[in-house]
Amino acid sequence: MDVIPIAPQVAIRIEDLSYAYPDGHRALNSIDLAVHRGETVGIMGPNGAGKSTLALHLNGILTGQGRVEIMGLEVNKKNLKEVRNKVGLVFQDPDDQLFSPTVKEDVAFGPLNQRLSKEQVEHAVSRALAWVGLEGFEDRSPFHMSFGEKKRASLATVLSMDPDILVLDEPVSNMDPRGRREFIQLIGILEATKVVVTHDLDMARAVCDRVVLMDKGEVVADGRPEKLLSDNALLERHGLV
Ligand SMILES: Nc1ncnc2c1ncn2[C@@H]1O[C@H](COP(=O)(O)OP(=O)(O)OP(=O)(O)O)[C@@H](O)[C@H]1O
Ligand SMILES: [Mg+2]
Repeated sequence: MDVIPIAPQVAIRIEDLSYAYPDGHRALNSIDLAVHRGETVGIMGPNGAGKSTLALHLNGILTGQGRVEIMGLEVNKKNLKEVRNKVGLVFQDPDDQLFSPTVKEDVAFGPLNQRLSKEQVEHAVSRALAWVGLEGFEDRSPFHMSFGEKKRASLATVLSMDPDILVLDEPVSNMDPRGRREFIQLIGILEATKVVVTHDLDMARAVCDRVVLMDKGEVVADGRPEKLLSDNALLERHGLV
């Protein structure tokens, strides 16, 4: 009898993950976390908690001790290409994301690698730029744009690839209120599994099904935003209010 593979319900599985930077600084300490398909999970916590370090493990930019699986696939050198096709990561700092002379080239980079047709690439680029409110920025140089504009452009470089899993490190930092509002709406529409690192309590309440609170490289709380984010003692203990 043929075995029909069932699509894994767990999009991201992290088991006993620890990471120390080359200078010895221990940034993650035995993290266990599972994110289900279609979930929107907020990762919150004070500066230096390890949020970005964790995000960088989700597409294999960093590899620590322990195990990270994306849709059942272990993140390792062998699977890196496949993992990166599934996970779109937007860095906290847009200067880490943008490297082409024009916005159009940066946003087209992913779709071109996916070997889409010319028309499909053009469609993906204009749709992603419209999503982030950067219509008309196609020929601008990312190096000569404001920080908020660069942040939007870096989001577009990932949205254009339509990944199964979106990992967004502080997506609305430096965005103006309208951009932030529109982005919150967009997150609600996108069907991907989403991991959103943020300090923005209102955005977390608006978009997240679940919030994971980190401090000092550890997960210190995990629960529904309405419960977790109304626990003032907890928020105060971990620098969120
Ligand atoms: N390249 C590095 N070398 C050594 N230590 C680092 C490096 N990058 C980060 N760290 C340290 O690792 C810890 C976790 O950093 P990380 O950037 O993951 O925190 P974060 O939760 O994303 O903070 P923030 O809210 O400021 O973005 C911090 O103590 C930080 O100083
Ligand atoms: Mg960070």
